[in-house]
Amino acid sequence: MEKKELTDKINKLKKEKNAIVLAHTYQNIEIDEVADFSGDSLYLSRQAAKTDADIIVFAGVYFMAETAKILSPNKTVLLPNIKAGCDMADKINLKQMREFKAKYPDIPVVCYVNSTAEVKSESDICCTSANAVNVVKSLNTKEVLFVPDQNLGSYVESQLEGVKVITYPGYCPIHHRITTQDIEKQKALHPNAKIMVHPECKKQVTQLADFVGSTTAIIKFVKESKDKEFIIVTEQGVVQRLERDCPDKKFILINEKAVCDSMKLLHLEDIYNSLKNNEFEINVDETIAKKARTSIDRMIKVNA
Ligand code: 13P
Ligand code: SF4
Repeated sequence: MEKKELTDKINKLKKEKNAIVLAHTYQNIEIDEVADFSGDSLYLSRQAAKTDADIIVFAGVYFMAETAKILSPNKTVLLPNIKAGCDMADKINLKQMREFKAKYPDIPVVCYVNSTAEVKSESDICCTSANAVNVVKSLNTKEVLFVPDQNLGSYVESQLEGVKVITYPGYCPIHHRITTQDIEKQKALHPNAKIMVHPECKKQVTQLADFVGSTTAIIKFVKESKDKEFIIVTEQGVVQRLERDCPDKKFILINEKAVCDSMKLLHLEDIYNSLKNNEFEINVDETIAKKARTSIDRMIKVNA
């Protein structure tokens, strides 16, 4: 099918079925053409919580669709490719979570939204990369446990005085493998470029940044900046969107491996098939969903 025909059919199905498409910033950029909302994890969970659509098609990865289902239990939530997982979320399961908590009793647990519903259900509050610092601050405590991302946890600690963040040793392979040498190499090639870093990168890398933020925060910063050249230290989808939206600026992806294969599984065809066949429906056990919802709701109430 031609792209135009496919887009038209998707839009028609969306109307007929009262469906919306939510797309994460790392998706193949063609998906934005049929997306009702595109953005970072925090923005998309807020949209999932307030939509009155009957069907939410989540163009993202499994934990995002699961989060949408937890927030909208009476809606149908579809993930167009059931294999779209997140390596970071898979780094901690319920048993490991309970063992980690048992090692540090009576300390509040913050869980990054990139985690399973079960892990969320065992946490006090959720966070995304956009609001992690404010979420931890809102707890008003001297110590917190942070799962599963050690890098985001240590970034949060660096931003708050007098708070010890005890991290679980999880990470996102795409961000974790970016090194200071990668930055130095690109900086030598592009000395005037500003360095934009996602907080899932290692501490040594975020320390070299001109700006650290979520995918949406990076895009916003670049759009408002007077600078013309940027080294983008996160997934390639951010570069694609910046090139589309800011044709007068130049963007350098930190290295060619900064691509999340899971996020790139979806194409327009998959969105069409998902809507047409109601595939693949995501469900969450009710008891787990109820507990997980408390921690997501708490997060949504904290300002980014
Ligand atoms: P954002 O919260 O910035 O959207 O990032 C989500 C993610 O999966 C980053 O790897
Ligand atoms: Fe998960 Fe990393 Fe992919 Fe984000 S980029 S979805 S954290 S594997």
